[in-house]
Amino acid sequence: MALWGGRFSGGSSNMFRQVNDSIGFDQVMASQDIFGSIIWSRALQGAGVLTADEQTQLEAGLQSLLDQAQAGTLDFSQTQEEDIHAFVEAELTATLGDIARKLHTGRSRNDQVATDFRLWCKDHIAMLRTDLVGVIAALTELAARSQDIIFPGYTHLQRAQPVRFAHWALAYVEMFKRDVSRLDDALARMNFSPLGCGALAGTTYPVDRQAIADQLGFTAPCTNSLDAVSDRDFVLELLFCASTSMMHISRMAEDMIFYNSGESGFIQLGDAVTSGSSLMPQKKNPDALELMRGKCGRVFGSLQGLLVTMKGLPLAYNKDMQEDKEGAMDAVTQWHICLSIAVEVLDSVVVDKERCQQAAQQGYANATELADYLVDKGIPFRTAHDISGQAVVFAISQHKPLEELSVAELQQFSAVIEEDVYPILQLEYLVDKRNILGGTGIEPVAQAVSAAQQFVAAQ
Ligand code: ARG
Repeated sequence: MALWGGRFSGGSSNMFRQVNDSIGFDQVMASQDIFGSIIWSRALQGAGVLTADEQTQLEAGLQSLLDQAQAGTLDFSQTQEEDIHAFVEAELTATLGDIARKLHTGRSRNDQVATDFRLWCKDHIAMLRTDLVGVIAALTELAARSQDIIFPGYTHLQRAQPVRFAHWALAYVEMFKRDVSRLDDALARMNFSPLGCGALAGTTYPVDRQAIADQLGFTAPCTNSLDAVSDRDFVLELLFCASTSMMHISRMAEDMIFYNSGESGFIQLGDAVTSGSSLMPQKKNPDALELMRGKCGRVFGSLQGLLVTMKGLPLAYNKDMQEDKEGAMDAVTQWHICLSIAVEVLDSVVVDKERCQQAAQQGYANATELADYLVDKGIPFRTAHDISGQAVVFAISQHKPLEELSVAELQQFSAVIEEDVYPILQLEYLVDKRNILGGTGIEPVAQAVSAAQQFVAAQ
């Protein structure tokens, strides 16, 4: 039964039903819709619209539907109802009869859907927050076990300066921690209750909107009824959170794809998160990582899509706004999937210390240390710089890092070079000179690992 049949004598066309009906996707808000109705029935009783007995019957009927929704046993396959709101009312009417027809008193689907979707977003924020903390925990664990591994840091995809592998993992810990706080911010702003705003102007019944907000788990009621039913910025913020976090996921995935490549060989991925080639038996492809990188497209698209849908819409509710759900629901699903698989990928990573070390040594990043060593021995910096440069040219011709040249070889360029040069040419020495807050030295990295562990433990 349509919710609005009275004014109509003809039925809807099939094509209209296809474009108009949202039950196919808004059925996932069944629990939120039913819960909202339970609270609304209490508000109606408080306002003197329902007797205590009527409210009790309605709440019992709704509770039974809620149980079915949570057990996943509600059957949507045969329904003719256009959306989840109509479906719930029809189900309730089927069991309770006429009394169910009192439930929608003073309410509109406009404040109802705004409430339901906020509740749905809030529930999923809780899930996604847990997912993010899971990724942070996996990265922290990877960092903890790779503190003594040094590999090349890159700029422009060119080897730049050696860093600890843990430092790389901890960089993403910072990004995902900000994603968590972004979600917290979005939650704080969406945490207001539209219920009681009616179609657009506010309801005429004296319901206690603060009590409704409290019982629904919102901070407070929305303060302007037009705004409450019209805006979807809470969805946009969630989509922005998803997009930014997916961007972080894609960069992490891209780094790991590169580190896992034959050219780098810094890490190996587990069999469980890679696939083979149907033609080339030797291949082990980083498919999970490529999908983590690739799924950004549809998530960014959903953000852009809803921004365009909302742009220029006149107040208050317009049916355009029904388009807020599919993209957002898909974005949430994809983000959840990517965060979940990220944990499996990170747990499977084996870092090849040897390959990392070799690659870090190949960039002659210690040439400055050699020059500083010569300065310590009394040679003017300009001259020391020249000598070090000549030693690098020689080392390149020998296909060796500087520290593998013998003292005799090094002395070709300066007689002051002795055995004591080797410690300062070691990668660890070079890296641990970055012993500053935020740097890649062993102490700041160890501190960052324990700070990350504390963050995870505090969640
Ligand atoms: N299915 C609709 C949506 O998701 C519910 C609100 C309909 N309101 C209305 N006045 N037509 O937006």
